[in-house]
Amino acid sequence: MRQDHPRVAIVGTGNIARVHARALAAVAGQTGQSEQAGQSGRTGQTAPLVAVMDADERQLKSFGTEFGVRGTYRELADLLSHGRPDLVLVCTPPSSHGELALGCLRAGVSVLVEKPPTVSLREFDELAAADGGPEPPWFATVFQHRFGSGQRRLKALAASGVLGRPLVAICHTTWYRDQAYFDVPWRGRWDTEGGGPTMGHGIHQMDMLLDVLGSGPRSRRSPGRWRGTCRPRTCRSRTSDSAAGRWRAS
Ligand SMILES: NC(=O)c1ccc[n+]([C@@H]2O[C@H](COP(=O)([O-])OP(=O)(O)OC[C@H]3O[C@@H](n4cnc5c(N)ncnc54)[C@H](O)[C@@H]3O)[C@@H](O)[C@H]2O)c1
Repeated sequence: MRQDHPRVAIVGTGNIARVHARALAAVAGQTGQSEQAGQSGRTGQTAPLVAVMDADERQLKSFGTEFGVRGTYRELADLLSHGRPDLVLVCTPPSSHGELALGCLRAGVSVLVEKPPTVSLREFDELAAADGGPEPPWFATVFQHRFGSGQRRLKALAASGVLGRPLVAICHTTWYRDQAYFDVPWRGRWDTEGGGPTMGHGIHQMDMLLDVLGSGPRSRRSPGRWRGTCRPRTCRSRTSDSAAGRWRAS
C-alpha cells in the first residue's frame, strides 16, 4: 500500500459506511490529502475515497452523490479493477464479510472489515491466512471501543499491576434497541448476522474485556439452551491466569 495517500474504497453503502466516509473526509481535511488527490488527478474529490460498491443501486447512487464519489460499482471485481483501491472497507451485513474480504485480499488489496469480521471461524482462518504478514495485503477488523479514554485508562492501570491479578471478570452488555433496529432484514438472525445481541453488541464489550485481561477464555461453559437469537445469553469462562468470567448479552 502506498503510504502517502492511499486510495480507499467502501463496499456496502449503508449506515456505518457513512461514519467511515465522514472519518475519511475528516482525515483528508486534517492532512490536506484532498488537495493532493485532486492534483494527482486521482479523483479530484474532497476525500481519499475513490470508489464505492453496493448490491443496491439506489443506495449506491445516493451515497455516491452525498460523498461526491465518482466510482460507483455493483460488483466487487469492477470496484477492484476500475477503482484500483489500496484499501477496501467492508461495511456490508456480516454474512457477506468473509467472501468480500477474501476477494479483496486475493486481488492483493488490504481490507478493513466491520465487526463481526466473519460469522464462522473457518472464514476467519481463511482471511488470516490470506493476510500478507509484513507486507500488504493486510486484513484488519474494527473494535473502536478499545480506543475510548476509559478503556485506555483501565488497560494502563491493569497493565501497571496496581489493580493486582484479575480474579473475576464480568462482561454484561444490556444495550436497548427498539423494534425498528431489528426490522432491518439481516439483523438478529443466525444466517445473516451470526446471532443476535451477542454478535451485534456484546462482541464490543467482550473485546474490551479481553483487551484488559490480555488473554482470551481458556474454557467456557454455557448453561441452558440458547434458542432464537434475541434471548439473553449467559456464558461462564476461565482465562489462562484463572480469572473467572461471566458474560451476558441481551
Ligand atoms: N463498529 C460499529 O460500531 C458498527 C456499528 C454499526 C454497524 N456495524 C457493522 O457494519 C456492518 C454494516 O452495518 P450497517 O448498519 O451499515 O448495515 P446497512 O444495512 O445499513 O448497510 C449495509 C449495506 O450493504 C449492502 N449490501 C448487502 N449485501 C451486500 C453485498 N453482498 N455486496 C455489496 N453490498 C451489499 C446493502 O445494500 C446496504 O446498503 C455490519 O457488519 C455491522 O455489524 C458496526
